Amino acid sequence: MIQGHGGNIFETAERLRCAPSEIVDMSSNVNPLGPMPELVEHLRKILPETISVLPRVDSADIVGLFARRYNLDPFCALASNGSTQFIYDIPRAFETKKAIILGPTYADYADACRMQGVSFDEFFAEEDDGFAPDLSRFGDRLSSADTAFICNPNNPTGALIPARQLRDLCSAHPRVRFVVDESYLPFAPEGDRQSMAGCGLGNVVVLNSMSKIYRLPGLRIGFLIGQPEMIQKAVRYRQPWCVNGLAQEAVSYLMTHPQNTDAFVAKTRVFLAAERMNFVQALHEVPDIRFYNSSTSFLLAKLSGRFTAQKVWDFLCRQRILIRDCTNFGGLTDRFVRFSLKTHDINTIVTQKLALWMKS
Ligand SMILES: Cc1ncc(COP(=O)(O)O)c(C=O)c1O
Repeated sequence: MIQGHGGNIFETAERLRCAPSEIVDMSSNVNPLGPMPELVEHLRKILPETISVLPRVDSADIVGLFARRYNLDPFCALASNGSTQFIYDIPRAFETKKAIILGPTYADYADACRMQGVSFDEFFAEEDDGFAPDLSRFGDRLSSADTAFICNPNNPTGALIPARQLRDLCSAHPRVRFVVDESYLPFAPEGDRQSMAGCGLGNVVVLNSMSKIYRLPGLRIGFLIGQPEMIQKAVRYRQPWCVNGLAQEAVSYLMTHPQNTDAFVAKTRVFLAAERMNFVQALHEVPDIRFYNSSTSFLLAKLSGRFTAQKVWDFLCRQRILIRDCTNFGGLTDRFVRFSLKTHDINTIVTQKLALWMKS
């Protein structure tokens, strides 16, 4: 397994000699408003009978519900143990010879290629462009690859490529398979309209995660969406019972309560739009920290002057606040950190502490 993700509250708690629950985890990008209380209550009720029987081996029920909810053919979707499982299966499922990754981005696409012995190139969006990728230049690089990984909105930059531009890119390169990771798209304003799921292009698969928007990372549920031919390639690598019973129950609940989930997602979007603005505004007068535009639940910051990522990370860690040091993201440097937004009170406390310290 490859290390280097955010969310390592256990290691940090050990180091600080406190309980993991005493740490404010701003390194893991999950919905600060979740999980939905009614979902937790439902899972609590059905826990005993759910964990005492085998779940459906192929998750067919939840795939059907997911497909119905998003107007997809059930043959166009597949469920698995988090979107991570698909990321690691894709290079061998698609028999990738050469991949290209649009970065700076989530390290697991590269790690999945390494694990499968697949060579890959990275194309980095420029800092001077606010990390908005130049798709025309990226397109020029596609002739050398058969599989392209694109995270949209991107982790850790928060940059969103409008669906129209993405569709044009994918249509213009029918020989390349595009893997579009939409794990953070539900956080974006009008996220549904920006999705490539159901785009109908035979060379596109979409990754969908329940971990982020519904704050269920411990349950491990993700979906792959694409044309049946692509889904069939991925099916060959799926293990039986790879979605556990509780996870299947959670999906059933979410897919059959559209009014509750729509309201929850809408509330999340409004909340995050306000919090992104407040967070940036609260540090506006601190000259050594600048933020990039984000459409999602986290903000990438660039540090300057005497501040490195390690220094800021250490300072906040001593206060039991965990952020993501982005030094190990290809295409970034030791001057970048990522903040995952939390409740309004926590965000306020963190910005106050940072502003005071960075100005002193
Ligand atoms: C961009 C991106 N894709 C996928 C994942 C994995 O999510 P899941 O919990 O669905 O495996 C993460 C987790 O941090 C992520 O940041």
